[in-house]
Amino acid sequence: MTTNEQPRTQWRGRWGFLLAATGSAVGLGNIWKFPYITGEYGGGAFVLVYLACILAVGVPVMMTEIALGRRGRGSPIDAIRRLVSESGKGSAWSLLGWMAMLCGFLILSFYVVVAGWSFSYLWKMLSGGLAGSSVDDMAAIFVANNENPLNLGFWSTLVTVATMVIVGKGVQAGIEKSVDWMMPGLVIMLLALIGFGIFSGGFGDAVRFLFSFDAGSLSSEGMLTALGHAFFTLSLASGAILTYGSYLPAKASIARTTLSVAVADTVVALMAGLAIFPVIFANGMSPASGPGLIFMSLPLAFQAMPLGTLFGVLFFVMLSMAALTSSISMVEATISWLSDNKGISRRTASWSTGIVLWLVSTLAMLSFNLGADWTLAGKTFFDWLDYLTSRWMMPLGGLGMVLLAGFVLKHETFREELGLSPAWHALWLFMVRYVSPLGILVIFVDALGITRVQFGLHWPWLLAILVVMTLVGELASPRLRRTLSS
Ligand code: TRP
Repeated sequence: MTTNEQPRTQWRGRWGFLLAATGSAVGLGNIWKFPYITGEYGGGAFVLVYLACILAVGVPVMMTEIALGRRGRGSPIDAIRRLVSESGKGSAWSLLGWMAMLCGFLILSFYVVVAGWSFSYLWKMLSGGLAGSSVDDMAAIFVANNENPLNLGFWSTLVTVATMVIVGKGVQAGIEKSVDWMMPGLVIMLLALIGFGIFSGGFGDAVRFLFSFDAGSLSSEGMLTALGHAFFTLSLASGAILTYGSYLPAKASIARTTLSVAVADTVVALMAGLAIFPVIFANGMSPASGPGLIFMSLPLAFQAMPLGTLFGVLFFVMLSMAALTSSISMVEATISWLSDNKGISRRTASWSTGIVLWLVSTLAMLSFNLGADWTLAGKTFFDWLDYLTSRWMMPLGGLGMVLLAGFVLKHETFREELGLSPAWHALWLFMVRYVSPLGILVIFVDALGITRVQFGLHWPWLLAILVVMTLVGELASPRLRRTLSS
């Protein structure tokens, strides 16, 4: 392992990690997915559950990942292998690193297709390709955009190339430099769009929709979606945050940084809601129109409004930049691992990874046209990538990370890395040992389809399981550790 001998690259500026990690977190998940799932699951109540999931599961898991990365000084595979061997435990744990790296790569291979939609809509906005379209035309445009493999392939290839070019330039000159201007740009555009929303006539409705709590609209399905989305939106369990953490200077506070990223990510998601829903409501559209929400309804609304084209262009530039700052983070684990271990430069690592990525993402892209009926168990290749990563790999990876931190690695490691006061440290430990695993198990049991977890009815049960887990864990762990280390 070569990383041991040379000091690891670090972020150049004070804001480096914060901007890069926020850039990773803020993406299509915030601007495309969060608004439409909030629309589908009923607004304010869903938002509240989502916030609880970010705090109870997202924040502890993110702190763990950053600490693992910084302490292990490497990609997920190297960092975990190093820490596990320091603690004298079996190297099977490095499989967790492999899964995280693969997960980031697989997410990227379908993410570039959705990011490609964003770039192609930006082009349509600029070139006037959407002008004068009716509701039906918009739906037809969305379909036509997907139907032609050369068209769709062009846009996803463009995103792939852009991602690999940025990553190939390095941590400081590529990633940090691009997020340095893209993140502030994104916030400015978002503010401009909210300003537009305030005057669109639907702002009050949007605020009511996002922030009024109606417990009746909560479904168990919605709660699971909120928990799953907390993972996805914070880019957890897929090597991105862990690898970025490996470049974090020793003096930065992990807890404070994590909180900033989580707050920024949440604020951007809510701001995206405040930018999108006013336009939807002002034009009498349904907030629950699913994945096509921003692609089919927003352009329609923009063209009906004064300065709509300008704001439409702003919107799709913003979406495209948000997607890019996320996509670069998904492949960083792979690039870091290749260049640390295989004796090749970052540049070589990125173009060779880019070729493999292009092949896989082309298959994903074809799911929308030529390969629409290449299905297995009713799912296209694109659906499989999404399903495998978000229902299996991310929850399993997250579970592995918290168990590793909570029960397997030396406590000293986290005491030193996190540098929290005893009370806060105890809280973190309680979260990673019991609360996060329980939360993740709940998603997982649901994913297995064994049972639909009925939250409304089973809150007391969940609490009881938490108490039992805590007792068993606390009783067993010192003994467990003694047995393992003897
Ligand atoms: N968080 C990003 C979003 O909300 C997506 C993302 C970026 C991601 N990197 C990731 C998701 C790594 C999972 C893993 O769009």
